[in-house]
This record gives sequence, structure tokens and C-alpha cells, in this order.
Amino acid sequence: MKLSIDDSIQGVPYYPKAALYGADAGWTRLASNENAYAPSPRVIEAMVNALFEVNRYPESELDLKGALALRYGLRSQNFLIGNGSNEMIETALRALKFKGRTGVIVAEPTFAFYRIAAKIYGYDVTSVPLDSFRLDLGRVTERIDERTRVIFLCNPNNPTGTIFSDRAFAAFLKSLPPEILVVVDEAYAEFAEDRLFPRSFTYVDEHPVLVLRTFSKAYGLAGLRIGYAAAEESLVSFIERTKQPFSVNMMALIAAKAALSDERHLGSVLENNRKGRKYFYDAFEALGIEFLPSQANFVLIKVGPDAEALTGRLFEKKILIRWLGAYNLPECVRVTIGTMVENKVFLEALKRLRA
Ligand SMILES: Cc1ncc(COP(=O)(O)O)c(C=O)c1O
Repeated sequence: MKLSIDDSIQGVPYYPKAALYGADAGWTRLASNENAYAPSPRVIEAMVNALFEVNRYPESELDLKGALALRYGLRSQNFLIGNGSNEMIETALRALKFKGRTGVIVAEPTFAFYRIAAKIYGYDVTSVPLDSFRLDLGRVTERIDERTRVIFLCNPNNPTGTIFSDRAFAAFLKSLPPEILVVVDEAYAEFAEDRLFPRSFTYVDEHPVLVLRTFSKAYGLAGLRIGYAAAEESLVSFIERTKQPFSVNMMALIAAKAALSDERHLGSVLENNRKGRKYFYDAFEALGIEFLPSQANFVLIKVGPDAEALTGRLFEKKILIRWLGAYNLPECVRVTIGTMVENKVFLEALKRLRA
């Protein structure tokens, strides 16, 4: 190829796009932290009714923003809606471009897209290693310098499922020098049960914090691509300017509004997750497999030096889990909590392969 490609793009790892494996029936999909259940019947009904209107551009995002404002005690102007929370990560990086301030801080290991997006937009990335699988915010503070512009915090952290506390977060925010945006990605927040989990929405008016949430996980709308972010109003208005006007499609907006309204459905998803987590913990203990207690819909387990081979053998049995070699944890895998049937399929196969 004749075109020269900038180093910032050449350095981005290339994977053939997302998990096409397992899209057909017969696979047990425990690799991508999806929701194993179909969305609320209210979501399906609302989308069916809307099908006849797709000749129009999407309705305004104001309805959904209003519903979110009500839920979190903020104003509609505090919210952004995105094509997945991934879009919010990119739009924030675009809006925060600032001469001489090109530093981004991420934890290691954490969700890979922060680093990828930061590189694409020309930032320099500094990583802060986790401490016994937990993020110590004090260590993040130590890495801040005069070039730091954006700090990504993932809470609960993917792939560990661990959290930092409200108290630690509040102290961290207070100690923050000016001109830095903290993006706190709470994609799995609905699953977190620890009462120390931060009340991040209460900080957005006082501190430069962008809270990210998604409808992809607990609400089961991953295929529709919709997420949201909350921040102080003027910051929201600048980020909004860097976003495509209709990046979120009509079906996604309608589905998200309906999903938010069905607390019972959400409750049953969370209950299944609680039971699945407990089932996994008990089974791993019985098998003598080390695991990290998780505040999310997945569990990190240490299976040993043959973790990659084990993942491959499970794949041959049409069971998808995530080997964590790319996260520098070659002895570990991450398993999503699925339906009870899927959890059992995985565990029985694991037992047989380790026997
Ligand atoms: C921590 C984290 N943030 C964001 C996302 C992406 O979410 P969305 O589907 O809303 O783009 C994921 C998906 O796995 C994730 O693990």
C-alpha cells in the first residue's frame, strides 16, 4: 500500500472486528460480559411500534435525558447520549484536546479501549499498575504531571471486577490539580452491591468528572449500541459539539427509555447475576481455583500456565471465555456470568478438562 500511516494509528492493535464467533445458536457466550437475557418485553413492544417510523431521523434525545435526570437527581443538560459508552470515550478525548496537555492516565490492566482511543487521538498514555488487582487512587495521583489531561478510571474494573470506594474517590477528586478531566466508566455499576461503591453522579457539578454508563450490560441492549454520560452542563455542551448529531439511532433511544422504566426486569437480571456469581464462587472454591470476588457480571479466575490452551479447548466445545494474555495476565481468564444453564455448561466442561 502506498499511503503512509501515522505512528499513532500504526501502534493500534488490530483485531478482526468483534466476536463474530458464536453469533449462531449452539454457542455458550461467556467472553464479552453481555447480558444473557433478552431485554424487557416493554423494550420489544416499544421497538415494534417504532418500526413504522424509521423513515424519520431519530427523535430528540431530550426524553431520555429527562428520564435519566429524574433518576439521578440532575438536570437533562447534565447528560450526553452516545452510540454505546464507547462513543463517549472518543467524544471526550476529542473535546478535551488542548495544546501542551497530551497526557492520559489509565490503570493496567483495564478496559483496553481507553488506551486505543487515546492513541488514535494523539495522546501519550501512562499506565498505573493495579495493586493486588485493585486500583489505588493514590498511585494515580502520583503519576499526574503538568501534561496530564484525561484520567480514565474503570469502576468496577474490567477485567478484575474490583472497585474503589466512594471515600477514596472523593479524596482523589479533591486532590486533583486543575485542567484534568476524570472519566469514570461505570459500565457495570448496576451489578455492584458493595455499599462503598461511589455515588459518582453527586460529584459532577463540583468536579471535572464525566460519569459513563451503558445500556449494554444490565439493561441487555448491547446490540443496539447506546450509553450515556453525565457531567457539569458547560462541559456537556462542549463534548456534545464533537459528536455526530444522529449517532444514536431511533430504536436505541426508544428501547433505552422503555428499559429504564422496567425496574422489575432489571431486578431479575441482577438477581440472576447474584445467584450466578455465588454458584461460580462455590464451584471454584470446591475445585481449588483462585478467583477474585467481583462487583460485576464476570469473574476473573486464575487457572494456571495452561490458561490459553484451556480457553482454546473450551472454544472447540463452543464455549467462549476470555483469556487474559492481552491484559498481561496469561494465567487468568475472565468468565461472564450467563444463565444458570450456561454457567453449568462452562463449569462441567472446565471440570472435565482439568480432570
Ligand atoms: C468497562 C467498559 N466500558 C465500556 C464498554 C463498552 O460499552 P458500550 O457497549 O456501551 O460501548 C465495555 C464493554 O465491554 C466495558 O467493559
